[in-house]
Amino acid sequence: MNPAQSRRRRSKGLLMNENLEFLQAFFKNPLKVGSIAPSSPELAQKMCDGICPDEANVVLELGVGTGAITKFLQEAVPNKESYIGIELDKDLVKLLKRNFPELKIVRGNACDTFSIYQKSGFGKVGYIICCLPFVSLPNEVGERILLEIDKFMEKGCVFRTFQYAHGYYFPSAIKLREHMRDRYGKAKRSRIVVKNVPPAYTLTWKTT
Ligand SMILES: C[S@@+](CC[C@H](N)C(=O)[O-])C[C@H]1O[C@@H](n2cnc3c(N)ncnc32)[C@H](O)[C@@H]1O
Repeated sequence: MNPAQSRRRRSKGLLMNENLEFLQAFFKNPLKVGSIAPSSPELAQKMCDGICPDEANVVLELGVGTGAITKFLQEAVPNKESYIGIELDKDLVKLLKRNFPELKIVRGNACDTFSIYQKSGFGKVGYIICCLPFVSLPNEVGERILLEIDKFMEKGCVFRTFQYAHGYYFPSAIKLREHMRDRYGKAKRSRIVVKNVPPAYTLTWKTT
């Protein structure tokens, strides 16, 4: 086997592991994980489009999962003080800490995002990459997380999330868009990313 073939085999193996870890997390807690597969590279790239973090524009990733988006985000992160990832599931956090030793991964609840950020002592948050499954989270949890996000938006921030096409008109998906639109204006919506299971849109709001 030549080096290219062995690299391909290794990355296929990693991908299978990632899918398996994700599926295990889903079966353990389907409503909190909210999807049967991690985001595709195409969706991950769309989520990272134009994100240029540094110590004064920290990127906050909510609901890191197996790190499908983190892999791409990592390329734009210049140092450890420019990224905080928050994930609830303890097994996923173990995996993330192993796979991304150079990033700050915190096991925690996105309902406590602001205090987790304050404890880090990091600079201003410039970007929030949000992968939380609002559609399947309890209403009150979704509401608490949106209030946390407001605390960063008030200081000037880019907020980006994705919504699955099939759930785009579910009440909780609409509620998130209305909450954001009423405060920060209309979202910039991407074209549908069809190479994802399931297909999804990204939505971006920005405050200055
Ligand atoms: C749809 S998955 C997205 C995972 C990954 N970012 C991706 O795009 O493949 C949602 C993730 O959010 C996590 N999660 C759900 N509720 C959470 C909460 N309240 N706080 C932090 N993470 C949460 C789940 O454990 C899961 O890993």
